[in-house]
Amino acid sequence: MANASWVFSPTLPQFYKPMISFKSIAIVRSNSIFKRVCCSTVHGADKALSSESKPSRVVGKGCKLVGCGSAVPKLEVSNDDLSKIVDTTDEWISVRTGIRNRRVLTGKEKMTGLAVEAARKALEMAEVDADDVDLVLLCSSTPDDLFGSAPQIQAALGCKGNPLAFDITAACSGFVLGLVSASCYIRGGGFKNVLVIGADALSRYVDWTDRGTCILFGDAAGAVLLQACDSEEDGVFGFDLHSDGEGYRHLHTGIKENEEFGTNGSVVGFPPKGGSYSYIQMNGKEVFRFACRVVPQSVEVALENAGLARSSIDWLLLHQANQRILDAVATRLEIPSDRVISNLANYGNTSAASIPLALDEAVRSGKIKPGQTIATSGFGAGLTWGSAIIRWN
Ligand code: ACO
Repeated sequence: MANASWVFSPTLPQFYKPMISFKSIAIVRSNSIFKRVCCSTVHGADKALSSESKPSRVVGKGCKLVGCGSAVPKLEVSNDDLSKIVDTTDEWISVRTGIRNRRVLTGKEKMTGLAVEAARKALEMAEVDADDVDLVLLCSSTPDDLFGSAPQIQAALGCKGNPLAFDITAACSGFVLGLVSASCYIRGGGFKNVLVIGADALSRYVDWTDRGTCILFGDAAGAVLLQACDSEEDGVFGFDLHSDGEGYRHLHTGIKENEEFGTNGSVVGFPPKGGSYSYIQMNGKEVFRFACRVVPQSVEVALENAGLARSSIDWLLLHQANQRILDAVATRLEIPSDRVISNLANYGNTSAASIPLALDEAVRSGKIKPGQTIATSGFGAGLTWGSAIIRWN
């Protein structure tokens, strides 16, 4: 099992000293926890790295969330609709999961289309032009292209100057991982406007004859714009990220084995057949137990790294997998239910999209207000999980 507990502000105040930038990062092991230690150097030393062709970058500052957006497919599929194709009922699904509806891609709709729509809305809210985006991170396990879909999104948004765009694959933890990665690019790499998009279309990998899984998932996209800012405005306080590949067996969508076809003395398995993935395979009970165990621990560690107490959390915003998981985590963290964001009744589990989708709805409805502190946590296949303590705007 790999642990990565990374500490940023406000526990490292020297991070924000003017004229100081971070050029190298050392990871040292202490009590089985990896702590990230940032080594600072004065700006003059940056010259060796800069070239005249590169834009000048502001290095070593804070970062804040300045915009959000989301998009969902047109087709709504209710529990009653599902009861017509598998042996289930609205009552069973809503009591066990809290889910009532989900949205599913149909016709010519694509995951990238949703991602572009969500990103455009985030840029609009932030009042930032697509040309000013210098990094696009697409958190998705279901790209429209095996080689990654982020560059297509960058092109569709019309970001001139060919800013870097790439995919991050970490299932339902993807968005938290993307958010933390974006903060690192801003603080350590001098990037200024980073789009973090969580988008997934798990409906393509669901076995629609399996009532144990098809009731859970839906398709969606959500996005935030993370922007470099002064240290006083910093909005990513602390985080905690993990993975445990031993737990892979509990939740996976592996590539199908290459079927043997050797006859007449031909080499078995060559030439290979075209690759394809199996349906989602899940041990629901194990995933449920895993989430209820690791998420509260991870939120606690992220809080500790942020130097904040539980009482400073205004909102708990977890990956929207199951209402019973949300309730169990909130109970363990002693956070009252009226401070827990939940919209899974309408969308089901939308994987990497679920956190930014719920954030966007809560911000636009006025529930989450500027300056409020949010504890967010993602968990899922890999197994992966991670938490971040952030401030909205
Ligand atoms: N309708 C009716 N009955 C059902 C259904 C259904 N849709 N699904 C299962 N059942 C039956 C089972 O066959 C079983 O029947 P039996 O007792 O006769 O054998 C019974 O209901 C109980 O089944 P369980 O699987 O034990 O039900 P459980 O209470 O564990 O709920 C669920 C299942 C909802 C999947 C739950 O385990 C869960 O939510 N787990 C977490 C899953 C999750 O969040 N996964 C996503 C992770 S994110 C990512 O990375 C993709």
